[in-house]
Amino acid sequence: MNLVLPDWPDYELLDFGQGEKLERFGSVVVRRPAPGAQGPRRNARLWAQAQLVYDRRQERWHRQGRLPDPWLVSWGPLVLELAPRGAGQLGVFPEQAINWQWLLDQQRLLQAPPEDEEDRGLLNLFAYTGGSTLAAAATGAAVAHVDSARSVVTQARRNAQHSSLDQRPIRWLVEDALRFAQRELNRGRRYRAVVLDPPSYGHGTGKRRWQIQRDLPELLRVLAGVSEGCRRLVLLTWHTRRLAPQQVQQMAEEAGLAVPGARWESGSLFLTAACGTRQLWSGYVLRAASAGS
Ligand SMILES: C[S@@+](CC[C@H](N)C(=O)[O-])C[C@H]1O[C@@H](n2cnc3c(N)ncnc32)[C@H](O)[C@@H]1O
Repeated sequence: MNLVLPDWPDYELLDFGQGEKLERFGSVVVRRPAPGAQGPRRNARLWAQAQLVYDRRQERWHRQGRLPDPWLVSWGPLVLELAPRGAGQLGVFPEQAINWQWLLDQQRLLQAPPEDEEDRGLLNLFAYTGGSTLAAAATGAAVAHVDSARSVVTQARRNAQHSSLDQRPIRWLVEDALRFAQRELNRGRRYRAVVLDPPSYGHGTGKRRWQIQRDLPELLRVLAGVSEGCRRLVLLTWHTRRLAPQQVQQMAEEAGLAVPGARWESGSLFLTAACGTRQLWSGYVLRAASAGS
C-alpha cells in the first residue's frame, strides 16, 4: 500500500534530488538534507529561492532575511510551530500528516468511554513535537505523550496551545519509551491505542541508546502487555529501509500485538514533488484498527 500525502496548503515538496529536498512551509522555502532523495533535480531555478538552507558539511543552518516569528503551519485542527533545529530538522515531519488523518478517522474508537478503569487511552511513544498526540487529542482521546528529549516535549506543549488543545487530557512525559511502557505495564495501566514512530537510533533518558533492530521486538512485547484486553488500534511508523514491513508485522505478531478482529495494513509513506510526478519515499507504516471504528 502506498500512502501519499494529500494536498496541504501550508506545505509543499517543491523538488528533490542529489541528497536534498526543497520544501515550502507556510511562506518559507527551505533546502535541507534528505538521504533518500537520489537522482537529478528537476528545476534548478527553484533552488535559488531557498530562504533557509541546512549546510550538510558545516552542520548548520544559513538564513536569508527574517523568518516569521512565530513560524506556524496549520493542518486540520493542528497549528504547529517550526524552528531551525539540529540535523536539519524543523519540528515537523510532513509525511506524518498521513497518520494524523488516519487517527482523526478513528474518532469513534478513540473517543469511546473506557470499558475498563485502567484504560488510559492512547500511548504515543517517540512522540516528538506532538502531531499525532494532538490529532488524537482532537478526537477526544486521552493521550500519554512520551519522548526522551525535554526540548521537543516543551515544543509539543506549545503546539497544544497554538492548536487550542492544551486543555485536553494529555500527559506530557520526558521518559525513555521502553522504560516508561514497562513501568505502565507493571502498574497495571492499559492503553486501547498504541502509536510509535521510533528512530533508527536514538538516546533514551539514561545511558542506554535506542537501536531499532535490537530493541523493537522487546518494545512490541511490552506494548502487547500494556494494551492487553483493550487493544483497538496500533500505528507504527519507521524510517529505515533495512526493516521491511513484512518483518515488522511478523515481529508484532510474535509479540502478540495484533488487534482483535482487524487486519494489518502496511506500506510506504510518500511525499509528491510539486514540480513533477516524482515521489519521495519517507518511511514505512504498519497499522490496524478495530472494525466498526
Ligand atoms: C523520528 S522522531 C519522531 C517523529 C514524530 N513522531 C512525528 O510526528 O513526526 C524520533 C523521536 O524519538 C525520540 N527518542 C529517541 N530515542 C528515544 C527513547 N529511547 N525514548 C523516548 N524517545 C526517544 C527523539 O527525541 C525524537 O523526538
